[in-house]
Order: sequence, then C-alpha cells, then structure tokens
Amino acid sequence: NLYNQKHRPQFHFSPEEKWMNDPNGMVFFNGEYHLFYQHHPFGTTWGPMHWGHAVSKDLIHWEHLPIALHPDEHGAIFSGSAVVDWNDTTGFFDGEAGLVAIYTSADHYPDSDRPRQRQSLAYSKDDGRTWMKYEGNPVLSEEKITDYRDPKVFWHNQSNKWVMILATGQSVTLYTSANLKEWEFASEFGRTAGSHDGVWECPDLFELPVDGEANDNRWVMLVSIGDNPDFPEGSRTQYFVGQFDGRNFKNENSDDTILWLDFGRDNYAGVSWSDLPKEDGRRIYLGWMSNWRYANQVPTEEWRSAMTLPRELSLARTESGVRLVQKMVSEINSIREHTEVIQDLTVKSDSPVTIDMLSPLMEVNVRLEKKDSTAFGIIFKNAVQEWTVIQYDAESEKIMLDRRQAGISFFSESFPAMQETMLKMEEGKIHLQIFIDTSSIEAVANGGKAVCTSLVFPNQPYDKIVLFSNNGETHVSSLKLTSLNSIWG
Ligand code: FRU
Repeated sequence: NLYNQKHRPQFHFSPEEKWMNDPNGMVFFNGEYHLFYQHHPFGTTWGPMHWGHAVSKDLIHWEHLPIALHPDEHGAIFSGSAVVDWNDTTGFFDGEAGLVAIYTSADHYPDSDRPRQRQSLAYSKDDGRTWMKYEGNPVLSEEKITDYRDPKVFWHNQSNKWVMILATGQSVTLYTSANLKEWEFASEFGRTAGSHDGVWECPDLFELPVDGEANDNRWVMLVSIGDNPDFPEGSRTQYFVGQFDGRNFKNENSDDTILWLDFGRDNYAGVSWSDLPKEDGRRIYLGWMSNWRYANQVPTEEWRSAMTLPRELSLARTESGVRLVQKMVSEINSIREHTEVIQDLTVKSDSPVTIDMLSPLMEVNVRLEKKDSTAFGIIFKNAVQEWTVIQYDAESEKIMLDRRQAGISFFSESFPAMQETMLKMEEGKIHLQIFIDTSSIEAVANGGKAVCTSLVFPNQPYDKIVLFSNNGETHVSSLKLTSLNSIWG
C-alpha cells in the first residue's frame, strides 16, 4: 500500500507518487469535486509541469484519475483554474454545459532564456475524464510582462461576463471576456498595496457576506507571495478585503495593511472551488501544504507534498476591520472515529497534565481558560524526545506553534521555527481545534480567527498530550479527543 510509506499523510490528499505543488482547477460539477494539481510525474522534485487529477464526492475521500493535462507545443502546464461553462459561451459543448480549464502555458521566447507565460484553454465533454486543448491557444499573452500566470476565472453575474484575475509580477491584472477566448484588460491592482516580499502568484477573487448577512458583502482577494531569501517565512499567502464592480477592485484597508491567511509556514498557492451549488452557499478553500523554501527537500522519498484540509472561508467584523475566518469543512465528520471528553481539569504551573493520545491520527478540541497564569497550552510529544508546542501567551496576546523540536529538520535551516500571530482571548478563553496527521498539524484558534498550518516530521508518531500552565493556573473547561480514520482505506 503506497499510503503506508513513512510520513505519508493519512487524511490529507497527496499524489500516489512523485512531485506535487499548487492545487489547480478546483471545480464542482455533476456531483464531483475536482482537484487538479501541479504535478511532475517523473520525479520527486519540481520539473516539467502537468495537471494531475483526482475527484471526490465529499472533499475528504479522493479517487486518483489519470493525468489531465500534459505539456504541449506551447510548453508546460502551470497553475490555473476551471469553470463550468453552463451556457456554452465557448461553443465547445453544442449548447450543453461542460468544463473549461484556463491555465498558463509556460515555455521560453524563441532563441532566448527568457520565460514566456501565456494563458490557454482546454475543455472536457466527459466530466473531466478527457481533455482537448483549444486550437486557438494561447488566448492571452503580453510580451512586456515576464511573470504572467495563474489565471483564476469566475462568472460575474452583474456584468454578465467572465472575469480573470492573473498574477502579473508585483500586482494582479483583471481581464473580462464573453467567451473565455477573447480577453479585454479591465484593471490592475496592488503595486502599492500589501506585501511585496516576493513575486505575486496564484490569485483568487470572490464575494462573501460579512457575519453571514446577505446584504453586507465584501470581495476577498487572495494573493500568494513567492519565496524570497530575505525573509525567514518563505512563501506565504496574503489577502485583501474590499469591493469589486466587475472591473476594478477597491481595497478597503490602507495600502500598508498586510493580512496573512495563515500564521503557519505551510499553506501556499491556495484558491477556492468554483461552481459550488447555490444551495450549498459555501466558499471552500484548500492550499498546498508546503513552502518553496524547502518543498523540494522535505524527507519523503516516493512522493512529495500534500494539500491542506479543505476549509470554509467566511468574513467576520473585528475591532480592526472585516477579516477572513477559516473553518475545516463539516465533511470531516466522515472520518471521526471515537471520541473521549474530559471536563474541568485544573492545570497548575508545577504540574502539567499528561494524557495518552487515542491514535496517531487525531482531532483535539480544547477550551483553555486563563486563571492567574501568564501562558498556557498543549504539547504533542513522542518517546524519542520530539515535540510540538501550541502556546498562548496572555501578556503579548500571541498564539504560537513551535516546531523547533518537532522531529526531522536537517533538510532546511528554515524548518525549525516558531510560528505566531496576535489573537485576543474571548471571555478569558482560547479554543483550539487541532488536527494531527502523520506529518502535519493544523491548528484552528477561536473558531478560525487564527489558523496555523505546519508540517512536522516526527520520527515516531506523537503519542502523548501535555497540558501546561505557566506562572499560575489554567482551567481546561473541556478536552475532546477524537481519533480519525485514514482516507486511504
Ligand atoms: C506557485 C507557482 C505558480 C506557477 C506554478 C508552477 O507555487 O510558482 O506561480 O504557476 O507554481 O509550478
């Protein structure tokens, strides 16, 4: 069984073998969630890109399908999106609905080393099982811009047009189209806004209600920031909140406001699913659970990389403005096995509480209430002196995930790291929902106001939980341990 290999994630998507990076072409159609991904089928490091393919009926259990898109005369197949062309605006589907993939064709200018990135189309008439490249490819090119990639396309109802958001170096550029084949420039955003710590990649743009109120909407723009040796964090994802009228995005925060999607190092190039049924109403996101800083070096041999758990995105009004909130999708319920609940524990500074983990695959829900302690948290550890700490520091109001002693880390100096962000307690409490897989920890704090996605490579599974409290008492109002099943059977 390929899924018994050392470090192999048990409830996260990973390719059967070889290299994977960004999620691509996520679209829901005829009862299936499609997940394509940047794939190098001949090696466990990045190489000539293909689109790998898998489908799921519940976002959790995946069926691998053959490679969907192979490199062609226009080059390798870089990141992009897929949409349902419900009204056959392309004319590909004889008046029916079908799937269209919009991706970057990556090659070089003739007789030159300079990369050439142009946008192309492929379509499928059989639920994504086979794909035809459009004979008019590429459909969008621009000689002046070298980094010109990762088209995310959506249908904009009010203007009755397709909109493409494209990463264009240190900005995103928006285009509109009636048929996905001819594109017209609409606007550029971002040269002076947000983080420019790296090249902009893999954007997304979608509308969400604030606090669930249908008449108070905002548009959210996701922008991934490429690795830059000047910053220890490596590659990461920022977002903007504002308004979009079909052509222009208006950022409602100041240019120097930087909003990060995740305070962990391993959530990159994520985008959202297209064409979820209206009745569903959710905006579901998933990212690549790695970091360009060390993705090619992580200690797995047969395959490289996994995706994050799928998350539902929403917007909440906070003291500092409207902010993104992430929740793991409710479909996770299908892998919950056995639950034990412990209530009303008091943890004192000199006596941490140690509890056996039910299984190496776990969800832990813990409600920690500060009494007179200054910091408190939870440690996951194994018998070979490896541990990961999730700690809340009440004085600095920071939540942190420390993986400096988590396990194997020789492959990158940047790997052993403390990851942290600001977070306020709610009624004196911090709630943590933590997912522990073979080589990752995802921590969702206070209902998704802060989320940390972090790889860890312990030599043996963590098998104990330690609750600790510094300089005083912490009350654990409840600790819920749930063992999880592998999705790979
Ligand atoms: C992001 C990225 C994209 C590009 C792809 C190539 O991780 O660099 O910008 O399309 O990976 O594999």
